Amino acid sequence: MQQPIAILDSGVGGLTVAKEVMRQLPREKIIYFGDTARTPYGPRSSEEIVRFTREIVDYLIQFNPKMIVIACNTATAAGLDDIRSRITIPVVGVINPGARAAIGLTVTGCVGVIGTEATIKSGAYEQALRELSTNVQVVSEACPGFVPLVEKGNFRSTETYDTVRSSIGHLRHFPMDTLILGCTHYPFLADTISEVMGQSVKLISSADETAREINTILQEKNKLARGDKVPLHQFFCSGNPLLFKSIAQQWLGEHIQMTPVVWQVPNIS
Ligand code: DGL
Repeated sequence: MQQPIAILDSGVGGLTVAKEVMRQLPREKIIYFGDTARTPYGPRSSEEIVRFTREIVDYLIQFNPKMIVIACNTATAAGLDDIRSRITIPVVGVINPGARAAIGLTVTGCVGVIGTEATIKSGAYEQALRELSTNVQVVSEACPGFVPLVEKGNFRSTETYDTVRSSIGHLRHFPMDTLILGCTHYPFLADTISEVMGQSVKLISSADETAREINTILQEKNKLARGDKVPLHQFFCSGNPLLFKSIAQQWLGEHIQMTPVVWQVPNIS
């Protein structure tokens, strides 16, 4: 039996990473969990985010994954080290890959980071960027309005444009040429973000780099999937499966099968 790669997020955001894993590693089977009943994680405390992340990892472990991908910046910032200390299989987060991509691209040395309140408050991107380049100028902004729009499937509307413009329009006054989408939900809004920021600002999603890191780790461990069988991915969510399925199919451009969650999600609030 092929061991899957388990990918988790607070909702549909991690699908941006899953799509890139499917593109770069088409033989790999994916088990995806979106905690849509408890999204957004951004306004929650670090303790609560760590607890939710542990609960999902404990659920996913029953599928005997060869790797866990925390495809959520908020959960990566709060819980990556915690999860790594609890299990023996590789655990990949999304913050370092995004920071690496930004440092590789910026010419002005001014890098913007947008993310949830919890991610921005953690300072995790700033730290990761400074470890890679001591003289980078980092401009960070929390955008609490973005995740709820994406979870509703509202990617392009006047409401979306107005929310994006009022949240990040002022960032155009900085000499930034690179903007990290420090939340895996934000690539869903990339067209609108680009419209607001202008053509000269390159948008970085950690999806590409994260998929490359997954590839490197699996190669090193001799764990890459072999054979020609097309993998049958499995998708779980803790909230409304119809809404999740409709957003996932739009984003992935293919039909997906939802698997019911045999787990009463604790502490929905
Ligand atoms: N996709 C999550 C992230 O990357 C969104 C967090 C949230 O639920 O607020 O941070």
